[in-house]
Amino acid sequence: MQGPNLNILGRRRPEVYGHTTMKQINDMVRARAEELSCELLIFQSNQEGVLVDYIHRYMGECDGVLINPGALTHYGLSLREALEAVEAPVVEVHLSNIHAREEWRRTSVISPVTLGQVVGFGPRGYVAALDLLLSYIAEQRPAGNG
Ligand code: DQA
Repeated sequence: MQGPNLNILGRRRPEVYGHTTMKQINDMVRARAEELSCELLIFQSNQEGVLVDYIHRYMGECDGVLINPGALTHYGLSLREALEAVEAPVVEVHLSNIHAREEWRRTSVISPVTLGQVVGFGPRGYVAALDLLLSYIAEQRPAGNG
């Protein structure tokens, strides 16, 4: 899942976020998911409530969530509570290293309900985060269950 303003990646502050578009990132993640036989749903919204509705729609059906919440990272409490309610592992991704930027970016209200964060590695962070999420899910599964 991708939050606000990530749909304009490539054009948005390329000195910080690079030139890769959201479509290119989605294609990279999709290719990795296919390699690992993982069913993947991709979704972006600029609105918190729309992201919350999407999470509700797939609650109980998805095994994990990979999300770059954009600026909602820093204040999106209803997004946090939706992710908490899912009861599936969540990995938070950021293209930039939010801890090395402005003070207000260093706090994530999302992190406390995640397994962890992958920050500062640009687009390849999404692929790494998918690998981490899938290996965590595989480890949690009872033996003999795929
Ligand atoms: C971001 C970091 C956020 O602080 C910012 O609001 C974004 C992008 C990142 O990927 O580095 O929209 O999540």
